[in-house]
Amino acid sequence: MGSRLKDKVAIVTGASRGIGRAIGVALAGEGATVVLAGRAEADLSETAKRIRQVGGTPEIVPTELTEEQSIMNLVAVTSERFGRLDILVNNAGITHSAPLEQTRTEDLDRCWAVNARAPFLLCREALPLLRKAERATIVNISSVVGVKGYPLQSAYTASKHALRGMSIALAEELRGSGVRVHVICPGAADTEMVSRVRPDINKVELIGPDEIAELVLYLVAHQGNAVVDELHIRRATAAPWFG
Ligand SMILES: NC(=O)c1ccc[n+]([C@@H]2O[C@H](COP(=O)([O-])OP(=O)(O)OC[C@H]3O[C@@H](n4cnc5c(N)ncnc54)[C@H](OP(=O)(O)O)[C@@H]3O)[C@@H](O)[C@H]2O)c1
Repeated sequence: MGSRLKDKVAIVTGASRGIGRAIGVALAGEGATVVLAGRAEADLSETAKRIRQVGGTPEIVPTELTEEQSIMNLVAVTSERFGRLDILVNNAGITHSAPLEQTRTEDLDRCWAVNARAPFLLCREALPLLRKAERATIVNISSVVGVKGYPLQSAYTASKHALRGMSIALAEELRGSGVRVHVICPGAADTEMVSRVRPDINKVELIGPDEIAELVLYLVAHQGNAVVDELHIRRATAAPWFG
């Protein structure tokens, strides 16, 4: 176990599986205490088990990100239990695949609520705690669809552009405050989300969730004067530079 994040407290949303689970384990592996947010309690317990295996002491806070009260509860429990917050990773997300004309309002609203509204509200609620840290980091997991557009993904794409836009504005707003804001835009990774939405992609070509977690670690643990605002990570077989 490393110690680069010793004494730090992190919230990771969508920590019950996939990329969020990998991020939680990676942060804990460097000594952070990780607060795991998600709905599926059995899956959150599995993440917690993996964190204990690397020597960490996780905290599970069941959270429904479409509900403002639940988001407020996540921050309140973190504050009461640990009295500090150094790292916030807005990772949870959902997709919806359909032609725009067939996208129901409730599907659009749900994408919006989980992918854009929840990170916005969570940043707002967490900022008073984050500002108290000597140095704090927000990492928002957007997507390649946060910079590009794909057919049949208009609701998902709009929400990920929104998350990226909010992050850019917040990074500027917090410049010099000690709270840094970063965005990671991954291509297709090996998770349940992609096995549902892109079964056509050969599984051996998918990005490993651990590879994305490594980037999060870099962003939160890097101590120098350099700041990386945004990271784009793609499958080695996908077109480079957003082609
Ligand atoms: N996989 C990819 O190829 C890929 C590529 C680019 C970007 N991303 C982004 O990376 C992030 C993680 O994706 P993933 O592939 O790991 O997805 P995943 O395996 O489907 O996991 C999604 C996570 O989000 C949580 N979540 C969904 N709805 C929620 C809600 N209403 N309240 C609370 N938590 C909720 C889920 O937890 P519960 O079900 O337990 O609530 C789960 O932990 C997402 O933002 C996704 O858009 C993924």
